[in-house]
This record gives sequence, C-alpha cells and structure tokens, in this order.
Amino acid sequence: MKPSIVVHGGAWDIPDDQVDAHIGGCTTAVHVGRDLLLRGSCALDAVEEAVASMEDDTIFDAGRGSVLNQCGQVEMDAIIMEGASLRSGAVAALRHIRNPVRVARRLMECTHFSMLAGDGALRFALANGFAECTEEDLLVGRELEDYREYLRTGVLRTREEFAGAPHDTVGACAIDRDGHLACATSTGGTRRKMAGRVGDSPIVGAGAYADDTLGAASSTGWGEKIMAVLLAKTAVDMLGGDPGVYAACEASIGILQKRVDGLGGVVMVDRTGLVGFHHNTPRMAYAFFEGPTSEERSGIRR
Ligand code: GLY
Repeated sequence: MKPSIVVHGGAWDIPDDQVDAHIGGCTTAVHVGRDLLLRGSCALDAVEEAVASMEDDTIFDAGRGSVLNQCGQVEMDAIIMEGASLRSGAVAALRHIRNPVRVARRLMECTHFSMLAGDGALRFALANGFAECTEEDLLVGRELEDYREYLRTGVLRTREEFAGAPHDTVGACAIDRDGHLACATSTGGTRRKMAGRVGDSPIVGAGAYADDTLGAASSTGWGEKIMAVLLAKTAVDMLGGDPGVYAACEASIGILQKRVDGLGGVVMVDRTGLVGFHHNTPRMAYAFFEGPTSEERSGIRR
C-alpha cells in the first residue's frame, strides 16, 4: 500500500496577506506526516505529528494561536481516531496544554475512556507528564487585539465568523503502508465563544471519523452546524456507495449546506489512498501527498 496524507488549516475567508503563511503551515504539516509514513510509521503517528506541527504554528486557531472565549481564556478541543479498531480519544475545553492532540492520543491508548473535558482533561494531561503552560504561552497578539475589541464592542459573531473572521481548525487524515487509516482534528474553537463551549472537533463522527473499511475524514467550520449532520461520518459513509472521494466530500458539504445552512470544509483519504477535499466557505487551506498517484500539492482552495 502506498501511503497518503491530507491536511487542512481551516475553512474560512483567509485574507490575502495570510495566504502564504497558511499554505506554508499546511505544507510543513503534510511533509512531517509524509516523511513518517514513507519511513514506515503508522497513520496514527503521521496524523498526530502533522496536527501537532499546526498546533505549534501560531497562524492557526489550534494550540498556540488559539482564539479567546468570552472570559479571555484559551479552551481547546481535539480528537484522534484510528480506523482499524474505531477507537478514538478526545479532549474538550482543555486549557494550559500546548498540544491537545497528543493528550487525546494518550487518552485513547492508555485508558478505556474516549473523551475528557475541562479540569478533568487537564488533570489527566498533567498526570501523564504533559507540561502545564500559561495562558500567555498560547496567546498571540492577533487574538489579544480581537478580545480587546470584543470587550469594547460586546459584539458576538455567528454565521459571519466562518465567512469572514479567522477560524483555523486544523486536521489531518492518513493511510499507512499497512492500509490502516487514522485522522485527527484540533481547534481553539470559535472566537468570542461562551466559556465551556465545545464544538464539533472533539465529537467522534462530527470533527473526525476513520474506518479502515471506507476512509477517514477531518472537518472544519461552524461547529454547531457540523455536529448536526455529523459531517465526518456522513462523508466517510458516502464512500460505501463508491462515489469517489471527491464526490463524497462534495456531497457531504452539500448536506451541511442544504440541511442546516452550515459553512465548513472536509478533507478525506479513502481506503485506496486517494485524497479529496471540499468546502463552502470562501477559502480553505490544504496540503496533501497522495501515494498512489505520487501527487503532492498545497494551496488555498477558493
Ligand atoms: N469547527 C470548530 C469549532 O466550531 O469549534
């Protein structure tokens, strides 16, 4: 089996002056995952490392660079899933940890629980050797400025958040040389969200889904709407009808739009290693390495 990996850096209206940085962050992430896969690492390692590299890149709303909630706090959600066993691990509203995706994987592999939230997730991370960081370690000037504007104006955003303002959930899907699939998604959520708000990203089937018999998907966009249609599972299930991976991405985003007037994007790898992506936001950053065709590409899709 020739391995493949696809990543996204969020679906929204990425401003022209941030395009290069988004493409650069996605390209780096896909190279991290590709190199691991080509050296024989498993798909889980590839998606964890690809997503961790985007969590470390402050251009994205995940890990360092995450948005602030209405209380001025960074609360992050992340999930990882493996397609062989259908096991997943997720953290929600996690604070003070640089790489939530790594905590999600530890939870999946070291416990029989699938999701931890808030203080419990932080306690689990600290008990498992993850370093505690400060709010300032995760905060970037861009988000501090936005929070100050929120305090001045009190304006909340909903739909226009995904058509206009920054929103950069990150995600990755991969297949390894043994034909095993995995996916991971990580986010700081939505700007000016209520404290404790959890989006689609850590919800299995909404933010991510992997099944070795079909494919793997990672979602991005308006979480409340994505949850309503379980976007990732919907996209993966469509592969069962054999429409092709691009058609499955397109059809699942069609459901998001038609059923709940949602905005977002999805990336996928199918069980043959072909990749696909689609979105109905103005733009989505992506990068992929597709083993069966040896094609490698990154960009901002309009
Ligand atoms: N899609 C990420 C979120 O809504 O939190």
